[in-house]
Amino acid sequence: MPSTPQQVAIDLDERSYQIVIGGGLLGDASTYAGLPKASTALVVSNTTVAPLYASALRTALAARYAQVHEVQLPDGEEHKNWQTLQKIFDTLLEQGCDRKTVLFALGGGVVGDMTGFAAASYMRGVPFVQVPTTLLAQVDSSVGGKTAINHPLGKNMIGAFYQPQLVVCDLDVLDTLPPRELSAGLAEVIKYGPIADMAFLDWLESHIDALMARDRAALAHAVRRSCEIKAWVVGQDERESGLRAILNFGHTFGHAIEAGMGYGAWLHGEGVGAGMVMAAELSCRLGLVDAAFVRRLRALIARAGLPVRGALLDAKDNAGRYLELMRVDKKAEGGEIRFVVIDGPGRAAVRCAPDALVRAVIDDCCAS
Ligand code: NAD
Ligand code: GLY
Repeated sequence: MPSTPQQVAIDLDERSYQIVIGGGLLGDASTYAGLPKASTALVVSNTTVAPLYASALRTALAARYAQVHEVQLPDGEEHKNWQTLQKIFDTLLEQGCDRKTVLFALGGGVVGDMTGFAAASYMRGVPFVQVPTTLLAQVDSSVGGKTAINHPLGKNMIGAFYQPQLVVCDLDVLDTLPPRELSAGLAEVIKYGPIADMAFLDWLESHIDALMARDRAALAHAVRRSCEIKAWVVGQDERESGLRAILNFGHTFGHAIEAGMGYGAWLHGEGVGAGMVMAAELSCRLGLVDAAFVRRLRALIARAGLPVRGALLDAKDNAGRYLELMRVDKKAEGGEIRFVVIDGPGRAAVRCAPDALVRAVIDDCCAS
């Protein structure tokens, strides 16, 4: 359904770009009018999303590019690896794509992260556009230029910072998103409240049912406010030398769950949901927030259909397995794990914590 698109700017000097948010954007040729001139475009998607939306995107792009190629990747977090990345490079080379070729990432965060990494490295860098089709990708992964693939020993370990030219958040595509994926996206929406904006947390508490019911106005507000907060953070700390780490609230525990369970078993957003409860509990035990704050966040995460207890990763030494996995986190320094904690409502900080305290949190917060 076409509507007047909203815009959020990512302000990064010569790497600045716009996020456009609205209905009917993906298949509208005018959405892409400001992109750099080129003769070739490559749509990178996957075997689930391409049958739904690639044809509309390719038709819109045909108005601007003489040749529009397409590659479909296998679907799933377990395919976010070198082998799948190679498929993108194979297509680029087989089709004779030059260094002006524009890549279009049509899909969720997996397609977006891999397409961005391919764009960062093909011929030492070609332009790319994010066309995120999951809620999670619209509110987080398509914005800010983090691109990566996984390594069996750690998530998103191989990658680059590389900004897109444009992010196109077409709200219509959320109609076909499976309910579990909608919930996963809400995890990344919810995180923006405790780390940066308690008024947004209040709003989420009163609109979570509308969001679960895919109310268009509620989704539009959630996507826009999330993108505004992310733009504010990334604009100050593009390469995560400090502040940007707050966007990883819940992710240290969550990534451990994802890797420990085997990529794809828990969705990224599900790991973040349970991980935020664990990180809030850690914040409470460090004396930074009270127990009522943890209960409040846990209740909202549960209402979003997300797990609020961590997975059991090892029957013998569950906490030990978490600690082992969390030491590979990118925030870790010299083997010391650094956690994003809530340093008072609406404010986040990065802290170390004694292993014994972290073990107690894991023991109390995991499914037995
Ligand atoms: P995903 O890309 O796996 O997509 C979820 C599922 O939904 C897939 O099966 C996909 O094919 C399907 N799908 C996508 N759009 C659809 C639609 N409109 N209709 C029907 N089905 C659709 O998962 P995700 O949650 O979008 O992204 C998770 C990934 O993003 C993880 O790899 C995570 O590490 C990464 N991530 C990156 C950043 C970043 O800053 N770069 C931030 C957060 C997450
Ligand atoms: N999703 C975390 C970040 O972009 O920094």
